[in-house]
Amino acid sequence: MIPANIIEDLKFRCDVVDLVGSYVTLKRAGSNYSGLCPFHSEKTPSFVVFPATQSFHCFGCGAGGDVITFVMRAENLDYPAALEYLANRCGVTLPEDRADPRDKGVSRKRIFEMNREAAQFFRAMLFDDTVGAEARKYLVDRGLTLPIIKRFGLGYSPDHFGMLCDHLASKGFTEEEMVVGFLCGKSQKTGRAFDYFRNRVMFPIIDVSGNVVAFGGRVMGDAQPKYLNTSDTPGFKKSRNLFALNYAKNHCEDAMILCEGYMDVIALHGAGFENAVATLGTAITSEQARIFAKYTKKVYISYDSDGAGQRAADKAFRMLSEVGVETKIISMSGAKDPDEFIKKFGKAAFSKLLEGSKTQFEFSFDRILAKYDVTTTDGKVKAGAEACQVLSEVRSQVERELYVSRVADKLGLSRESIKSDIASLIRRRNVAEKKNEMAEVYRATSGIADRVNPQAATNLRAAKTEEILLGLMMFREENIRAAIREKLSENDFVTDFSRRVYQKIMEIYEESQHFDMGRMNESFTQDEMSRVSKMIADRTKLSGNGETELMATLQALRRESDRSRKGEDVLDDIEAIIKRKKK
Ligand code: GTP
Ligand code: MN
Repeated sequence: MIPANIIEDLKFRCDVVDLVGSYVTLKRAGSNYSGLCPFHSEKTPSFVVFPATQSFHCFGCGAGGDVITFVMRAENLDYPAALEYLANRCGVTLPEDRADPRDKGVSRKRIFEMNREAAQFFRAMLFDDTVGAEARKYLVDRGLTLPIIKRFGLGYSPDHFGMLCDHLASKGFTEEEMVVGFLCGKSQKTGRAFDYFRNRVMFPIIDVSGNVVAFGGRVMGDAQPKYLNTSDTPGFKKSRNLFALNYAKNHCEDAMILCEGYMDVIALHGAGFENAVATLGTAITSEQARIFAKYTKKVYISYDSDGAGQRAADKAFRMLSEVGVETKIISMSGAKDPDEFIKKFGKAAFSKLLEGSKTQFEFSFDRILAKYDVTTTDGKVKAGAEACQVLSEVRSQVERELYVSRVADKLGLSRESIKSDIASLIRRRNVAEKKNEMAEVYRATSGIADRVNPQAATNLRAAKTEEILLGLMMFREENIRAAIREKLSENDFVTDFSRRVYQKIMEIYEESQHFDMGRMNESFTQDEMSRVSKMIADRTKLSGNGETELMATLQALRRESDRSRKGEDVLDDIEAIIKRKKK
């Protein structure tokens, strides 16, 4: 647990407008700021940042909270990692060793130290005359040079059950640390630890801060599994890292190259394409897409040329487009992946591939043309319809115009008819999107099927009143003092969720005679934080938020909880739900 004063300090230094402003373009709107919500797709801004309460709230999707919640959502971090992120950002030092109990008290720092030690061990084994001979031959046969082997810190895990364990133990690491860090497994039968990676070529995975966060290990023959990868550990989540980003981050202003495999990346770097990265044995995730958006404007997707690779390319295209990254797709022939391509045809040929890479539309249009016989009328019509579908998804109007001409020429259709088809597709999609947005708002505000506060469905008015009261308390500290004077207690609350919020507010206030929303993150999930922030955000829209309102709300709540105890409210609420549904 991090002491409250440190969190307060952190929040004091990380202004919500600065922080959110570095992700979202914010426009001043009175004393607040608004912009397009980064957490759902929308065309009109419903996302508001409130400097006064240092919080944000989206009136569209309901996401909300403070700087800590924002970082948790935007960077996909858990609570401790979000604190660390903010601390780095604003130069606050956090006390060491705040470990997650699930990690059995093993800290990130220890894991990184242990991994560094292991990487050195693997490297020493690779360069050991006898132990590493076969692995060295394997790497050289695959075309790697000594400088590139060293640059990527490649190594070799000996064919032995305990060499790494023994080595790490001699350096003071415990068995528990080795197991949590995924360097050792534990035998179920004997309870003894054994080396997890054996007789494999080792690829250390290094994050942008230079920490060795994980390993991939490849067999040297055809045995299965071809690769073993470290599972997620306290320091490492596969879905949030990219292989070789530590190097690529310095060469990526204009563009990056996304490949499937470690070996592809290493071959590309070896040939001078130092902006190449790979996902870690999984399809690209939305977190990884956001990493790209942070580092670059354009991504060349250079996946394997087989069917699976091409389907994966489609997915990568979608993920990257969603975060606003321009995407080009490379199609190779004569080689199964970039590694093989470079070896066969050389780097100049790969540069040509980059130059000749296709936009998603070109990539799809080529496939459409290959699918239909466009010399027949039927083929033309079908190809035209599919092309319009794809074109309606192209966001840039200029680009769209360009392709309209191309499709028209290729299929012998008129520009006007293509344009009007696209226009109606886009219209239809916009209507569907709007409907979705509305449905989301409805779900978020209706209190029906409410996951955060399930009891609200059968206590509509009480839940609403509770939220107003809690909002008032969090909005103004004097209101907390007034509530204490009025002897507000947990028994006054009807729903468990609101009661928990109340208890946490009081706990925070009693500890420091001060309310700080940041500490709410300790006890509430992101969805719950969204609700908490909404309670506060709703207050900002009103002018009266003082003691008069508090007293009135408190009395109303006491009436409601009385009715609730007698069961009178349920009938009213059911009626209200039915009325809503009819509307
Ligand atoms: P080689 O050139 O055969 O060494 O491999 P590659 O780098 O071309 O990899 P491939 O295209 O076969 O697979 C892409 C990525 O998927 C690899 O870099 C690994 O991260 C991952 N991968 C491949 N095979 C396995 C496997 O058997 N298990 C796991 N966990 N991951 C794998
Ligand atoms: Mn390969």
